[in-house]
Amino acid sequence: METRIIDGKLISAQVKDEIKDKTAKLIAEHNITPCLAVILVGEDPASQVYVRNKKRACEYVGFKSLSYELPADTTQEKLLSVICELNKRSDVHGILVQMPLPKHINEKAVIDAISPDKDVDGFHPMNVGALCIGEEGFVSCTPAGVIQLLKRSGAEISGKECVIVGRSNIVGKPMALLMLRENATVTVAHSKTKDLKEVCKRADIVIAAIGKAKAITADYIKEGAIVIDVGINRNEETGKLCGDVDYENVAPKCSMITPVPGGVGPMTIAMLMNNCYESAVRHIGE
Ligand code: GUN
Repeated sequence: METRIIDGKLISAQVKDEIKDKTAKLIAEHNITPCLAVILVGEDPASQVYVRNKKRACEYVGFKSLSYELPADTTQEKLLSVICELNKRSDVHGILVQMPLPKHINEKAVIDAISPDKDVDGFHPMNVGALCIGEEGFVSCTPAGVIQLLKRSGAEISGKECVIVGRSNIVGKPMALLMLRENATVTVAHSKTKDLKEVCKRADIVIAAIGKAKAITADYIKEGAIVIDVGINRNEETGKLCGDVDYENVAPKCSMITPVPGGVGPMTIAMLMNNCYESAVRHIGE
């Protein structure tokens, strides 16, 4: 079977270029420049990299970005007051608090404090609820990115058996709702699933969001299936990134597969830019 490798870098670049064009028009025709506020608490190196990439993407597509780099011992109260100020600013369209937060800060309290209208991460219960009942709202960026990868690669979703492995609030659960919206038949498998291998083997589309390196091996995959790997695991010895899928052995069986790195990862930031653009568009005519 000929395997197509889904190029997330290329597709994310296309998405960002589309947003760049639309942003130039939004500025020229409506004098609205999308603006994303990015808040980082502490000095986690991985988070610093993510935040830097988000700010770079803003620059690329023509957004403003505001950066708040707060010390690790910032109180929850202080963080909430920063969010509250940003909620009030009409020139700020998106607010992103990079997770994870230091242990003394309650993540739920922080997510709840972000105005649902500016919650470009799609983490607020209002946005999650809207997704659940098919109303408009911001969708979590990584699962939204997976849908774009599938659609832009010409994959058919409607009527297909889709197995999602993982049930996190930011990937597994919204992924299931999005695939359902696309008329897939959806199964959400997880660590307590019996016979995970057999469940996965039924799938036309497998989406792996487990957080365990190479957990999905070739014997989990039906010949001709589409495999989307959301995992980002770092090999402690080599320092190399690897997904939740045993890529080398799985790829030859698939019709399409995403690599790690260069698959789902780059799409997350592209979809963040898309959410922020959409948030700014809502200000047209104000
Ligand atoms: N940490 C890991 N992924 C994400 C994400 O999508 N958004 C935020 N805010 N933090 C994260």
